[in-house]
Amino acid sequence: MSSILMKSTLKLGQRTLSLRRNIASLSALSETHQMLQKTCRDFADSELTPNASKFDQQHLFPASQIKQMGELGLMAVSVPEEYNGTGLDYLAYAIAMEEISRGCASAGVIMSVNNSLYLGPIMGFGNDQQKKSFVAPYTSGDKIGCFALSEPGNGSDAGAASTTAVAKGDYYLLNGTKMWITNGYEAESAVVFATTDKSLKHRGISAFIVPKNTKGFSLGKKEDKLGIRGSSTCQLIFEDCEIPKENLLGEPGLGFKIAMQTLDAGRIGIASQALGIAQASLECAVDYANKRVAFGKPISKLASIQEKIANMALSVESARLLTWRAAWLKDNKKPYTKEAAMAKLSASESATFCSHQAIQVLGGMGYVSDMPAERHYRDARITEIYEGTSEIQRLVIAGSVFKEFSS
Ligand code: CAA
Repeated sequence: MSSILMKSTLKLGQRTLSLRRNIASLSALSETHQMLQKTCRDFADSELTPNASKFDQQHLFPASQIKQMGELGLMAVSVPEEYNGTGLDYLAYAIAMEEISRGCASAGVIMSVNNSLYLGPIMGFGNDQQKKSFVAPYTSGDKIGCFALSEPGNGSDAGAASTTAVAKGDYYLLNGTKMWITNGYEAESAVVFATTDKSLKHRGISAFIVPKNTKGFSLGKKEDKLGIRGSSTCQLIFEDCEIPKENLLGEPGLGFKIAMQTLDAGRIGIASQALGIAQASLECAVDYANKRVAFGKPISKLASIQEKIANMALSVESARLLTWRAAWLKDNKKPYTKEAAMAKLSASESATFCSHQAIQVLGGMGYVSDMPAERHYRDARITEIYEGTSEIQRLVIAGSVFKEFSS
């Protein structure tokens, strides 16, 4: 654990902690994981929850909070200390992601994209020089990165990339447009996928590290979104963009595998983000149900409300177990493609369900922006879409199941 994170966890650990939730989950975690969870929860309660509505309504990038998250070691949780990372495992990352997203889902996705989609592939496939240049400076929250796979003409069909990379001497010439790029607006560097030979289909795709200041790299339309409005989503445009050959990630033609492996890990991050939204919705509903009096008693005494709370708690807790299991498999170097897809599917559907049910418990108060329930509802929606839609997760799961049964 980085010294900064260790110091702050110890400091924050001395504070009184309300253990209103997760008692069972907490007892199953190691001391380091519990301290990290507590640190992130305290940080979210003091710095994110009180500001999340402002970030959402004003479409404000939470710059100072991201900087603080960098100081806590949260922008590079599982990057080794050798490259300025925090050196923790993926379970730690999942736990931290949930707590941050419980406070603010926008901060959660900014953290997730930097950790899993940007730093992840460079740590997994980059050489030492690439890690020194494009990982180490992206761990402190001063700079963030992004991941550019989707295009205007293809999202789910990632193998159909039409952005081209043509080898010329000691550089590649990149041309094309990428779309739906989270962190795109603020990112100082991007991992970009492009085809060097379209006839080879997915086997013609390569991955490149492209710094923002590269000539021919510009930003396109910034999207006006339903939720996670504190994070940016925009197009990246490459027009005769010269990428030095040393910025090729891994081998030529390895890009699709890099993308798929990156997304396997990324889906654990998004599952954790969705868990944070689901948990926040549950807490909001419980709090309101305890305070709101109708028919002469708090509505928490009504069976119809209790049923909703029970179903919400069940869905969050089961999705959390799937998510932590996927992280544990990754940490233990076991295959986890199916489990990451199950975690993402289950947690994102839990976020949609819980945020919907929370509004139902709050009634009219759930429908207005005085309460966070409507923001959770809007934020939840994207978790079933990015880093692979729910339909793609079912396709991945079914593919793995058929393979298991035929072997
Ligand atoms: N790990 C490693 N390799 C994998 C893999 C995995 N998880 N999944 C597939 N592969 C390999 C296969 O083994 C195969 O290898 P060979 O060439 O050696 O045979 C190759 O990849 C092709 O496999 P498929 O035939 O299964 O590939 P496909 O074209 O049918 O696509 C897919 C599979 C699962 C649908 C994939 O395209 C996919 O995941 N699509 C969704 C993409 C996605 O999640 N996009 C989100 C982008 S990021 C984002 O959301 C923006 C953001 O900023 C947050």
